[in-house]
Amino acid sequence: MEIFSTSSEIRNWSRTSRLAGRRVGFVPTMGALHEGHASLLRLAAELTDDVVLSIFVNPTQFGPNEDFNKYPRTWEADLETARQAGVKAVFAPGAEFYPKGYRTQVTVPEGKSVLEGEIRRGHFDGVTSVVAKLFLSVEPDVAVFGQKDAQQALLIRRMVRDLDFGLRLVVAPTIREDDGLALSSRNRYLSESDRHRALAISRAIRASVSAWESGERDPRRILSVGKDELAANPPDVVDYFTLLDPDSLEVLDTTESVDKPAILVAAARYGATRLIDNAVLGTVWD
Ligand code: PAJ
Repeated sequence: MEIFSTSSEIRNWSRTSRLAGRRVGFVPTMGALHEGHASLLRLAAELTDDVVLSIFVNPTQFGPNEDFNKYPRTWEADLETARQAGVKAVFAPGAEFYPKGYRTQVTVPEGKSVLEGEIRRGHFDGVTSVVAKLFLSVEPDVAVFGQKDAQQALLIRRMVRDLDFGLRLVVAPTIREDDGLALSSRNRYLSESDRHRALAISRAIRASVSAWESGERDPRRILSVGKDELAANPPDVVDYFTLLDPDSLEVLDTTESVDKPAILVAAARYGATRLIDNAVLGTVWD
């Protein structure tokens, strides 16, 4: 497994691989790898010949009061996870990834105004911009993202289509603990009792999904069964529990019936830890 820290090195490596007729897969991450990330790497290895993993804790997607400085950095363990998943190259740029005077941004407007975008101002501009830079450095044939960050995956899908990145975007299912908690690098910040309370998020999502599976199409009723479940074991703050329209990238109008695919999205806080989770209703990723 090779390790590169500059765009030109990884680009040369990737071009050499493609010239040899090999397909390059790519999984961008911020490190602190867990089984969710490993599942993306394994999927990329199934779909392509040479998998590139990037590890970069991207400062531009963290707000001033967010956890950039204390974001977990577990370099050695990450390399071991990468090796086991069959990764061929790791791209780990340093601070120089943003050259002095950097100012260009890639923006999808709904990334500023909707849900995570509204609550975490500037977050998605940081994400789409860094992912665009990473795509231009790695030039992958296939890039794999997790549904865990569904709004992120939708915005990146929009960006890939709008800017003709010419790669296939694959969105992979969320990996969970046995009790339903979606794996996240931030779960480690939860106290034992908050971790237990946080199970209400996945339970609430399951309750709403079951209502939808039983044929309920009134968004208010789909949401209210989930919200009741959440209220039974309430988080400190519920940022949202709602339906996202994967086409318009906006929150679904709750006066209309859910007769096309939608994503049920939730965000809740336990102390200083903020968790997000979701489920798709219908086929969103193809
Ligand atoms: P990070 O949070 O490290 O996540 C990297 C990828 O792993 C994302 O595509 C995310 O959706 C996926 N992932 C996280 N938890 C998962 C789980 N439980 N199951 C399956 N996949 C999971 O997302 C980012 O980094 C950054 O925003 C990034 C795209 C790298 C840009 O900086």
